[in-house]
Formats: sequence, C-alpha cells, structure tokens
Amino acid sequence: MKVTVVGAGAVGASCAEYIALKDFASEVVLLDIKEGYAEGKAMDLMQTASLNGFDTKINGTTGAYEKTAGSDIAVITSGIPRKPGMTREELIGINAGIVKTVASSLLEHSPNVIIIVVSNPMDTMTYLVHKSTDLPKNRIIGMGGALDSARFKYRLAEAMDAPISDIDGMVIGGHSDTGMVPLASHATRNSLKISDFLSEDRLQQVVEDTKVGGATLTKLLGTSAWYAPGAAVSSLVQAIACDQKKMFPCSAMLSGEYGLDDICIGVPVILGRNGIEEIVEIELSEAEQNKMKESASGVSKTNALL
Ligand code: 2OP
Repeated sequence: MKVTVVGAGAVGASCAEYIALKDFASEVVLLDIKEGYAEGKAMDLMQTASLNGFDTKINGTTGAYEKTAGSDIAVITSGIPRKPGMTREELIGINAGIVKTVASSLLEHSPNVIIIVVSNPMDTMTYLVHKSTDLPKNRIIGMGGALDSARFKYRLAEAMDAPISDIDGMVIGGHSDTGMVPLASHATRNSLKISDFLSEDRLQQVVEDTKVGGATLTKLLGTSAWYAPGAAVSSLVQAIACDQKKMFPCSAMLSGEYGLDDICIGVPVILGRNGIEEIVEIELSEAEQNKMKESASGVSKTNALL
C-alpha cells in the first residue's frame, strides 16, 4: 500500500506520522515544493521508526511526482493555511490553482489513485478536483467531518466531564464556521441521549464551540491546527487501505442525496478499498434539514468563486 501526502507542512507531516504509527502502509511519499523540506521531514520521521516501532518507509521529495507513481491513496494538504481572523473561504484564490495542479500531477503518475482533499476551503477544493478530473465520484473524498466530529466529541466529553471513549457523535454539512451541522440530537453517551446529561443551553454551547473549533485553535496557535487534522486524515486513509467499511462524515459529490445535487458537502459515507462505497442517508429533523440546506447554499456560494 503506497500513500502520497502532498504538502509537508504541519498537517501533511502529522498525517504521514500517524499513518506510519498505525503501520498499515508499506510506503508514504511526502512531497513539497520547498527545496529539501519534505526530505528533511521524512528523514526526521524515519528516525522515530525504531523508537516508535513502525516499518512504514517514509520518503521525501521536492516536487518529483514520478516518485509518487503507483500510489493507491493520495492526500492533498497543499496550499496556504488560514491565519487568525481569516475564514477558510478566503483562501480560495491561491489554493484553487495549487490544488488543481497537484491533482493533475498526481493522476499523471497514479491513474488509479483515490484522492483525499484537505486543503481549504475544503468542500470547494473537493468540488474543484471533481470538476477538473474525470474520476468517478467514489475516488475523491474531502476530509472535514471526521475532524469536526472528533472536535464535537471532545467538547461533549468536556461538558459532561466524561471519557471521550464514552461519547459518539457526528458533524455533517460544510467544513466552515457557519456551515457545520453538529447532530446534537443523535449524539450519545453509551447509547443514552446526550440530553439526559446536558441542559439545552449547555448542549447549544457545545454545538457553537464545535463549529468554531478550527478558528479557536487558529487564534491560539497563530496558524491552523495540525494534530487532529492529521489524525483524522490518517483514519480515512486507514479505512480505505484496510477496507474497513467504516462510516465517517466526508465531503462527497452528491447527486440527489439529502435533496442536494452537484455539490460536495459533508455527509456520512462508508469508506473501503474503493473509496466512498456508499453515501448513507440518515433521517434528519426538520431543523437539521434546514441547517443542511443553509450550509449547502454557503458552499455553493464559495463554489461560484472558482
Ligand atoms: C481545521 O479545521 C485545517 O480546516 C482545518 O483545523
């Protein structure tokens, strides 16, 4: 199993590290345009192998796409990250050009690759990869909901002073501060409704904190986060590589599901060796349906800027 990670910045390097730590891939190629950067990160990571006990080989390259040839899965993290006060949508101008070039360079050397898009604004970048390639829908996946759901579970556990392993919950919709739709009424603690533990007001606060999860970290760190994004991507890569048939909310191209068409937005999907193997349509309350519609209209507005 060969995985390429394009962009050796904090998210790309964390993603490569988590993939290696999980030890299911034979090779991870880390590619960056900054001279020597990916080679340096790859070497540093490889020097953790004997300490952390993994056999995945991590190789770095400065822009040599031929070294990515035959990749089964590729992750696109390239582009500029947001700075404090910026929205993900403001990155569109620079990142669209980068993402389009990266996708076509990857496909030139790995025609069968499954692409995971992380660059922001992620739903629109995922849409762009669909429109600029003629890949089947199952082979282009946007990573946002897995991260937002992890942040939702963190906030729920914090509010209840409960271990995160007790909590289950999912965030669908667009990967943006206003577009996320945390499914509060579906969240559980050991199969019991969260409303059995939290007041309506506290639950609403959890929802709001989840939606600005990325912005909160950007303010604290001065740039966007990397550990949870890297871990979330590595979980998607593992689900595909190991044919796990696991369910994650991911940005998928919709053709009528959830009443939406010609848009990439976060919905629950089953990930396996063929990428998106199924889009799962769950029943949403009227309020959730309305939020999903609003979210989709925000994503469409950003898509129109392409
Ligand atoms: C985040 O939410 C990078 O968009 C990513 O942290």
